[in-house]
Amino acid sequence: MVMDRGIDRLGRQAWLKPIDEVLQRAVSGVFRSAGPAGARAKDVLNGVWLGHPLHPALSDVPLGAWTAAAVMDVLAASSGREELGAGADAAIGIGLAAAVPTAVTGLADWQYLVGRPHRTGLVHGLLNVGAVALYGASLALRRAGARGAGQLLASLGYGTVLFSAYLGGDLVYRDLANVNHANTAAMPRQFTPVLAASELVEGRLTRVDARGTPVVLLRRGERVYALAATCSHLGGPLHEGELHPDNTVTCPWHGSTFAFDDGHIVTGPATIEQPVFETRIKDGQIEVRLARPPA
Ligand code: FES
Repeated sequence: MVMDRGIDRLGRQAWLKPIDEVLQRAVSGVFRSAGPAGARAKDVLNGVWLGHPLHPALSDVPLGAWTAAAVMDVLAASSGREELGAGADAAIGIGLAAAVPTAVTGLADWQYLVGRPHRTGLVHGLLNVGAVALYGASLALRRAGARGAGQLLASLGYGTVLFSAYLGGDLVYRDLANVNHANTAAMPRQFTPVLAASELVEGRLTRVDARGTPVVLLRRGERVYALAATCSHLGGPLHEGELHPDNTVTCPWHGSTFAFDDGHIVTGPATIEQPVFETRIKDGQIEVRLARPPA
């Protein structure tokens, strides 16, 4: 609770605002100006190809390398074994190299956040920049023979990156960034009536409620398609999205596009397919049930 308030206060610092605005403009501008190639690059960085956000997977590498460096520094200081110091230097270098793709994927995810998560993400990123600077200086000092000063800077860098990692966890566990917003746990497994068949207009996205689950329906001739209406990316309303002739729908919030027939992702940033519902018409009612219960 105290920590949460501290994070909130940190994110509301006035001096962060101009940095936030410049960075947001720069990140979205870079991808937009690159056109279709930028959109593809964004999908790669968001982890669409992996079916999982890429940033959290990559972030383990610098954190792990710098943890190994901290351990080796302590062992080197206590045992006097020079090879452990060399090992720590190498681990710091690995962490620095891995920090670059980790930061790029983090920026690709961060640009979609708003409000408190956006601010927390900015602080998280700035702390990581600080940690990289400290580790870079640490490595330079070590190479110049000032190992003690280098170890001190590495300790500061490690404390910084641990706090930053805490913020990254806070973004996921409290703010639900990068989690699946179309979780199937509570979606109906049994056919559930949602709308009179006569009320569904051809080719118009229609939101209905299936026992508490928002569902978007689409009629194409005799066929009725149904997808979960809450976008798996960050919860956007797919029924307010753009419908395409090939029976795909684009989320109005950040442009993820899903296929109505099987929920697959045509374009990200969503990394998790959209839940699909089987449909049937019984006694004049459209009924739906989840088509792919989780394994
Ligand atoms: S909420 Fe982000 S693409 Fe739908």
